[in-house]
Amino acid sequence: MPLVRNVAVLAAGEGRRLGAGRPKVLTPLWGRPAVRYPLEAARTLQPERIVVVGGQHLAAIQAALGPGAGADVFFARQEQPTGTGAALLAAREALGGASGPLLVLYGDCPLTTPELLTRLLSAHAAARAAVTVLTVNLARPAGYGRIVRDAAGQLARIVEERDADAATRALTEVNTGVYVVELPGAFEDLLTAGRDNSQGEVYLTDLVALTLRRGERVASMACPDPTEVLGFNDHRELAQVRALLRRRIIDGHLAAGVEIVDPDTTFIDADVRIEPGARILPCTVIEGDTRIAAGCEVGPFAHLRTGTVLHTGAEVGNFTETKAATLGAGTKAKHLSYLGDAVIGANANIGAGTITANYDGKSKHPTRIGDRAFIGSGTVLVAPLTVEDEAITGAGAVVTRRSVVRARETWVGVPARPLHPRKDP
Ligand code: UD1
Ligand code: CA
Repeated sequence: MPLVRNVAVLAAGEGRRLGAGRPKVLTPLWGRPAVRYPLEAARTLQPERIVVVGGQHLAAIQAALGPGAGADVFFARQEQPTGTGAALLAAREALGGASGPLLVLYGDCPLTTPELLTRLLSAHAAARAAVTVLTVNLARPAGYGRIVRDAAGQLARIVEERDADAATRALTEVNTGVYVVELPGAFEDLLTAGRDNSQGEVYLTDLVALTLRRGERVASMACPDPTEVLGFNDHRELAQVRALLRRRIIDGHLAAGVEIVDPDTTFIDADVRIEPGARILPCTVIEGDTRIAAGCEVGPFAHLRTGTVLHTGAEVGNFTETKAATLGAGTKAKHLSYLGDAVIGANANIGAGTITANYDGKSKHPTRIGDRAFIGSGTVLVAPLTVEDEAITGAGAVVTRRSVVRARETWVGVPARPLHPRKDP
């Protein structure tokens, strides 16, 4: 039995302060839109249904999560951004009359771990509460809803900063925005919630007082690590969130047996897969869905973009950029190259300064290079073209489009031509 069957991810807010012209929840964080982080954390708990609530950008969110979002992901639209409570209500239909605990997360809160969510759900069950709030103590609580407790220390209500008096603002325990609420009671309460606050919104936080008024239990759990519940409202916070996520991704690879010589200057996207035994040298950026096999060496100063596949023992070195490029086992591209839309066989040598000219101003074209080919320094390969097994290009050759450099031939010059007539064995 999973701990929770239903999850709602609220992502209909506007997030104007970042001013990027895109919804905040689609901010790219190491190759993933921000909203995918809470989604993946929730998914680890194996719920039956994750409802993502989007607003005017719902279509963009659906597109960004893609058809691969998963059969467990459902979408709901909040027509107007009239508050976090209204956002949860917008998920009601998509939740299809569900009852029992519902985990509520924010789409712009990417650092929450499955372990923390598991603890919160267990605390909720143990307390037999109708609502459980994840709280955190912050030295600088500005901007957050404050947790107000009664004389007995029980959670009494949550007061938004803009609605708070000076004494309430002085409180340092705040609402993280992560909750477990019992359905259908939470929906019934939210339908009765007023909008008499400074923003005229339906506040999800009002659930606390409403639940207590019904005589049901409200519980809370304090999150020991404030970085797990960080959101981002401005570029300073965004940079902080990115730094923490980056370190987490790198720590994951280190723990799995990947050698990363300098974590401080290594940047690896969340969906990159690296086998144990690969070696990543300093000042390296690895993006998208890149895959790196055991025995590979990447860097220093390498830039592997999405679609890069390095087979066992391949090496990509200084100032080399790859994109949608496959390097076969043992193939080396060690210096000053651009390899895009290229499929390269095993044990090929890509000389310093080799460029696949894959773009003709209109479309991208493929380059194929065979096993044990030797591409001379400074070769320009104007795609589409093929260099077959064991073929050689001379230094500075410009191999023009649609050329086929046959197996074992040597081509030199500008435009490149076979050096010797072909000798068949
Ligand atoms: C909210 C909480 C506050 C808490 C803080 C933690 C309320 C009233 N306040 O404040 O107590 O300390 O989060 O970060 O809940 N959203 C919608 N639809 C809306 C409005 C918001 O989907 O109409 C989503 C946003 O996309 C976001 C989340 O809800 O993911 C929080 O919205 P935000 O505007 O950031 O809430 P805060 O004012 O920061
Ligand atoms: Ca916020």
